[in-house]
Amino acid sequence: MPTPTTAPNSTAKPDKRLKVIDITLKRNHYQQDSLIEVLHKAQEAFGYLDLNVLTYIARQIKLPLSQVYGVATFYHLFSLQPSGVHSCIVCMGTACYVKGSQDIVNTLQEHLGIRLGETTPDGEVSLLSARCLGACGIAPAVVFDGDVAGKVTATTALEKLKNLAVTEGISRLSDR
Ligand code: FES
Repeated sequence: MPTPTTAPNSTAKPDKRLKVIDITLKRNHYQQDSLIEVLHKAQEAFGYLDLNVLTYIARQIKLPLSQVYGVATFYHLFSLQPSGVHSCIVCMGTACYVKGSQDIVNTLQEHLGIRLGETTPDGEVSLLSARCLGACGIAPAVVFDGDVAGKVTATTALEKLKNLAVTEGISRLSDR
């Protein structure tokens, strides 16, 4: 089994997306045999499962992290990291969808030249979707490299990526 490479970040402020995990845990009465369902919900909310999320789930469901990590790596449907250097996760949950998240996806797909769920050929940006980030009050929500942004429009999403392009040299966007 691969070894996690980053330490859990216990000092980070609570992520609203954890509420999605909490609701699933509560609905299943924190039963350990609901682990796969919980991992599914977590991946829907976060787009992928990083070590902080796996650690949170392990603590809540009272299983060793190694076991949770083992399950997450065993099943191909779980992804432990976005394959691109940068990730952009557009929420396609109901609240975000009715407020225009499809427009955001369409614009980013067009400018990045990839479809939802894909990574640019140069490996710079992964464009992912989530079902609900637990931030419906600021819909439509998009997570750029782990930071949740609210009331995003297609224009501001593109600007955000272009800013990344300037600061981090994403050539695919900076020349458009
Ligand atoms: S539907 Fe997008 S944050 Fe809830």
